[in-house]
Amino acid sequence: MEKFLWGTATASYQCEGAWDEDGRVESMWDNYLHNNNLEDGDVASDHYHRFKEDIKYMKDGGHNTYRFSLAWPRIIKNINGDVNPKGIEFYHKVIDECIANGITPFVTIYHWDLPQFLEEKGGWINKETVEAYIHYVNVVFREFGKKVKHFVTFNEPRYFIFSGYKIGNYPPALQNTELTIKGSYYVMLANARAISEYKKLNLDGKIGIVHSFAPVFGVDDTLETKIAMRNADNFMNNWILDTAAKGEIPIDLLTRLSTKYNLSYITPEDMKIIKENTVDFIGLNYYARALVKPYTEGETTLIVNNAGSSAKGSSKVIIKEWFEQVFDPASKYTEWDTEVYPRGLYEGIMMVHNKYNLPIYITENGVASYEDVSGNELINDDYRIEFLNDHIAAILNAKDEGADVKGYYIWSTMDLYSWKNGCKKRYGLIAVDWENGLVRKPKKSYFWFKKVCESNGKIIDRRNV
Ligand code: NOJ
Repeated sequence: MEKFLWGTATASYQCEGAWDEDGRVESMWDNYLHNNNLEDGDVASDHYHRFKEDIKYMKDGGHNTYRFSLAWPRIIKNINGDVNPKGIEFYHKVIDECIANGITPFVTIYHWDLPQFLEEKGGWINKETVEAYIHYVNVVFREFGKKVKHFVTFNEPRYFIFSGYKIGNYPPALQNTELTIKGSYYVMLANARAISEYKKLNLDGKIGIVHSFAPVFGVDDTLETKIAMRNADNFMNNWILDTAAKGEIPIDLLTRLSTKYNLSYITPEDMKIIKENTVDFIGLNYYARALVKPYTEGETTLIVNNAGSSAKGSSKVIIKEWFEQVFDPASKYTEWDTEVYPRGLYEGIMMVHNKYNLPIYITENGVASYEDVSGNELINDDYRIEFLNDHIAAILNAKDEGADVKGYYIWSTMDLYSWKNGCKKRYGLIAVDWENGLVRKPKKSYFWFKKVCESNGKIIDRRNV
């Protein structure tokens, strides 16, 4: 029988460091962070130099898989698409090290680090970036396609496009709805085209997408709330998942957008490609649900808490005339305003299973906190163990109900650089002591998760979900 995949996840920019080594070129994140004097990932967890040690921790921790991403700016060095052999060599080494240790590599092709030379030409709102991406994926498939059996085209398209083009807290730091819609469309087109390229090569593997999943719940059962829920679901989930899994952009979403925005760049030829090239599996990153009520008043507001406890309670989502997201006073929230709601993962998996009937991987799930990792004693993160236990219980319950969940990845393997939240937001099962030579210190949760992996989930307490 096929083994359930138990592991952890990272992303290139967030953990590798070595930002300008061995021919890696500048990414849009390097450029944005350096130019704005913001905390950067120049060193991050230094995984570039320590990947062997990190993979050994995975093996010793009982993991049988590792989800990581490839840095486009390490692999392609210029606008002509020339390949950097050192970048290729690095990822061969990482993949080989995984395989030698019995760890299935689960490879994300794009986790937000667009080469700056493409951003300068317009990034994701320029259709030529789709062509550049197709060249890049072809290099990736031909180089690594024999060893890697699970590819992910994009990590969280909704999140990076909305943050970059609408909220403006990620590069290219714009606040423009028109461009948000266009960027989303080109990314989903690039996803379909990458799938088409992959299938042409007849490789023996699967390809999917990873979505920032926020299953939608309503505050009550009224018709108004149901309409708000549909709007929220289109905004949060459907434009990624319907498009990737069914090859259809939700028609009510398109109709509504077309009354206000020019969508003439959406062509029948592209829609045919999208229709014909759907994913083999769905990756869900689950942190929390979206609880919504009907829109009442105010302009569209998307505020993300990037400051942790000093800004607790500042997050806010209103999409004018569509819906409002609300806090549930009965729930627990993290310091960054993320609701702790494991039941939402069970319900969410069942929604996705019933709607798309595809294999599912939970490609990210985890909890962050400020942690003091400076001492030598074991870091006691019981709160994380409780969080992970209850979310794994939710997954196992959904599996019992027939959902085809094939793997689970904790975010993150070790502490890493959390984009605008910097390094103080710690998600890792293994601490990285930034002040003390980046030394690794496995937390209590690491040893607990080892037992989960080794028992194939049998030690999970399923009573609370
Ligand atoms: C989603 C993203 O994929 C990852 O890059 C991010 O750091 C985590 N979630 C935590 O917010």
